[in-house]
Amino acid sequence: MYDAGKIIPGLVVFLAVATVPIWYNVASGHEVAAPEIEKPADETQCVADTAYMRREHMQLLSSWRDDVVRSDDRVYTTADGRRYDKSLTRTCLGCHQSKANSCDRCHDYLDVKPYCWECHVDPKGGL
Ligand code: HEC
Ligand code: HEC
Ligand code: HEC
Repeated sequence: MYDAGKIIPGLVVFLAVATVPIWYNVASGHEVAAPEIEKPADETQCVADTAYMRREHMQLLSSWRDDVVRSDDRVYTTADGRRYDKSLTRTCLGCHQSKANSCDRCHDYLDVKPYCWECHVDPKGGL
């Protein structure tokens, strides 16, 4: 026969110990801090909604590339009617002027290494 009087308190203690890391984070507020991303100084809006950009900028860039390289389609119109050149260097880095303090800060933090800069130019890059 199971001894519920021992097993249940045992489970409670086990769960409390096993979830200490979670409780510790919640209680201390010591979530790992996300990196501070530098925003363009004189603009308030990206080429699309910020949450969408955060999630989908890679897909947007690869569709820009396909449009340019395959269809010579070079103009992107935002939902609110602004028009931009479909260009990684001229458009994205034209506005996000510090690649180091915006793109790289997030990519380094997440250990993402886009290989684009082997060919595309960072206008502020040292090379
Ligand atoms: C091996 C070299 C190379 C690499 C690596 C590369 N590209 Fe390109 N990319 C090109 C060339 C060449 C063009 C054509 C340029 C044109 O027609 O204006 C181009 C065009 C583009 C364009 C449209 C034109 C423009 O001015 O930006 C985008 C957007 C783009 N690439 C994005 C990317 C992204 C994002 C990555 C990384 C994930 C990447 N590319 C990696 C060579 C490269
Ligand atoms: C006209 C200026 C402008 C252009 C062009 C632009 N951005 Fe942005 N971007 C911004 C601004 C301003 C913000 C911050 C918006 C906010 O605070 O809500 C932003 C936000 C972002 C974010 C989210 C950052 C965060 O804090 O989480 C990403 C990712 C991003 N942009 C990538 C890109 C890429 C990739 C391109 C090119 C396809 C691009 N941006 C083109 C102005 C621009
Ligand atoms: C808020 C964080 C954040 C910011 C800011 C950010 N990125 Fe990213 N980026 C990511 C993440 C996360 C991925 C990887 C997504 C994945 O692997 O699916 C990524 C992937 C990419 C890729 C695809 C890499 C590959 O090899 O497939 C490109 C290109 C890229 N980012 C360009 C940019 C550019 C250009 C900027 C600055 C204008 C920028 N990102 C800013 C988070 C960010």
